[in-house]
Amino acid sequence: MIDAPGLLDVSRLLAVRESGVAGNLGAGNVDVGNVDASIARLAALLKEKRRVTVLTGAGVSAASGVPTFRGSGGLWRSFDPMTLATPQAFAKDPKLVWEWYDWRRQLIAAAQPNPAHHVIAEWSRTRPDFTLITQNVDGLHERAGTERVLRLHGSIWEVRCTGTCRSGPHVDERAPLPPDDLPPRCAGCGALLRPGVVWFGESLDPAIVAAASRATEQCEVFITIGTSAAVYPAAGFIHEARANGATVAEINPDATEASGVVDISIRGKAEEVLPRLG
Ligand code: APR
Repeated sequence: MIDAPGLLDVSRLLAVRESGVAGNLGAGNVDVGNVDASIARLAALLKEKRRVTVLTGAGVSAASGVPTFRGSGGLWRSFDPMTLATPQAFAKDPKLVWEWYDWRRQLIAAAQPNPAHHVIAEWSRTRPDFTLITQNVDGLHERAGTERVLRLHGSIWEVRCTGTCRSGPHVDERAPLPPDDLPPRCAGCGALLRPGVVWFGESLDPAIVAAASRATEQCEVFITIGTSAAVYPAAGFIHEARANGATVAEINPDATEASGVVDISIRGKAEEVLPRLG
């Protein structure tokens, strides 16, 4: 059972090991080079098994034009997460942080869900024992009509009051934010509002982590899609699913921190692979 420690990015710690991951044959893996066989194997499992849990990351929204964090062109390649996605950064310069989130909100507002979002939405409507655990804050899963979404890292479309009234989270879909309300302020007490996302070092909502853990413990098939599996506790669910005997599949054009522990590794783009899973 995963408890709710703070958001931790291990990619910086593990960068040295990365060179060893690419191209390996993980435990029980079909050769990653044989994408068609891997897709057929996963499609057959999805027909046979009932309880399915999916974990998604930024790669699922890449085809919608939303940048990832660590891949090529990823946000953390040009912006320093420690100056934009921590409580300390917000305390130091809330205007800078909000200018960055306002930029991302405008980008996401202009984006549309892609075929990967639509297939997952369909699964959530037609498979009774289906759960989606997402790290994404962009709301594209919800816009595609996905039901029972467990949002580990919150939503970029929610705000919370940082002042005495501590009100929120409230939905705030203004994109762009009006210049005279950047950084935005609480209508109740006038204090700063903050984005409703989980920043590095902050704890996740224990109720959401507990629900995600249950869905991980109970599933027969666990699919990790479009995540570098470098951020915990989210990446921990992949290992937990495997430890609980689920068949674990990964869909990602590149190797990840989890590639060595999955049963089926599909080297492909989510928007191209998911429609082929039937
Ligand atoms: N289809 C599938 N996967 C893709 C695609 C695609 N079209 N394009 C890129 N990817 C993969 C990349 O190869 C990479 O492994 O998506 C992954 C994105 O990884 P990250 O950028 O690290 O994003 P994510 O894993 O979601 O980050 C986790 O870190 O920055 C924090 O809170 C933020 O929720 C985020 C968390």
